[in-house]
Amino acid sequence: MTSFAVPTGSPGARILGIGSYQPETIVSNHDLARTMDTSDQWIRERVGIVNRRFAKPDEKLVDMAVEAGAKAVADAGLAPTDIGAVLVATCTMPSQIPNAAAQVADRIGVTGAPAFDLNAACAGFCYALAMASDLVRAGTARHVLVIGAEKLTDWVDPVDRSTAIIFADGAGAAVVGPSDTAAIGAVAWGSAGDLVDMIQIPDRHSFVHQEGQSVFRWATTQIAPIALRAVELAGIEVSDVDVFVPHQANLRIVEAIAKRLHAKGAREDLVIARDIVDSGNTSSASIPLALDHMRAAGEVRSGDVALLVGFGAGLSYAGQVVRLP
Ligand code: UT7
Repeated sequence: MTSFAVPTGSPGARILGIGSYQPETIVSNHDLARTMDTSDQWIRERVGIVNRRFAKPDEKLVDMAVEAGAKAVADAGLAPTDIGAVLVATCTMPSQIPNAAAQVADRIGVTGAPAFDLNAACAGFCYALAMASDLVRAGTARHVLVIGAEKLTDWVDPVDRSTAIIFADGAGAAVVGPSDTAAIGAVAWGSAGDLVDMIQIPDRHSFVHQEGQSVFRWATTQIAPIALRAVELAGIEVSDVDVFVPHQANLRIVEAIAKRLHAKGAREDLVIARDIVDSGNTSSASIPLALDHMRAAGEVRSGDVALLVGFGAGLSYAGQVVRLP
């Protein structure tokens, strides 16, 4: 039987550049305490957030994604026309149609490329990164722009203290391209749809509802094994990991997972992302936002081995090891 023609990919894929964008408006815990029954002390102690950014009403999710995506393309040393596919991980588009990715691609100058949204909630960036790596390795696209972008303030009840203090807006992006060596490890991913009720927007007229304590327990018990599985799949030891960048859901969750990594041999000098303190929980944007901020602050270096893990509504989770550009 004749075999069909298929493209030739590359032995590996790697992140070539990253970028991020946050809205201008900084909202402190004190600001929130003026409109709901909460306090700076409670939020700092229970969640670890001090400030977060909220987009203005006329600033759209697509606007933020364009800013972050364009920066990542420039950081990769590429032109928009070099990008062969655009993936936007998001769960907060204002409507189902149109998607974000086609608009983002057009506005960045990536003309005619395949562009689609991917919804795995707070795990979305790691899902999209895995897809991008596979597209590049298969030769389906040479350079893929991956963006995590959320405008959670569109979907959060502004006076619900169980969610309004956590969620925030922003976008982060990475460009994935070919590499002679694999610099994005195999993804450890999965879902637990039986737990779907824990985080949901029940219908298009509702706000985000979250069973905070249940999600907290799930995240602090189930996600460290996923992160360790990603290390194993990459064929390295946990002591080889320089940087740990989990989804920025709650600082106590970050610390709990990191503690379990340390118990399994992670180095004492492991650099841990704590971007939630000044960015809040930005769902699919939190991991690339954290990476970009850590790079700007000089906390991470090119060539560092970073362990990423995202988790959230679905429930969905995904993690992989990457070498930083
Ligand atoms: O990103 C997607 C995945 N999401 C997550 O991973 C989120 C996981 N969950 C969490 O981060 C935490 O469960 C929350 C931050 C949502 C809540 O923190 P908690 O420590 O689990 O608080 P709680 O819901 O158990 O509430 C403890 C107490 C309650 O008062 P009583 O009943 O003990 O008197 C709440 O009414 O704190 C009260 N409370 C608050 N007090 C001040 C709840 N929210 C607030 C608030 N300010 N904002």
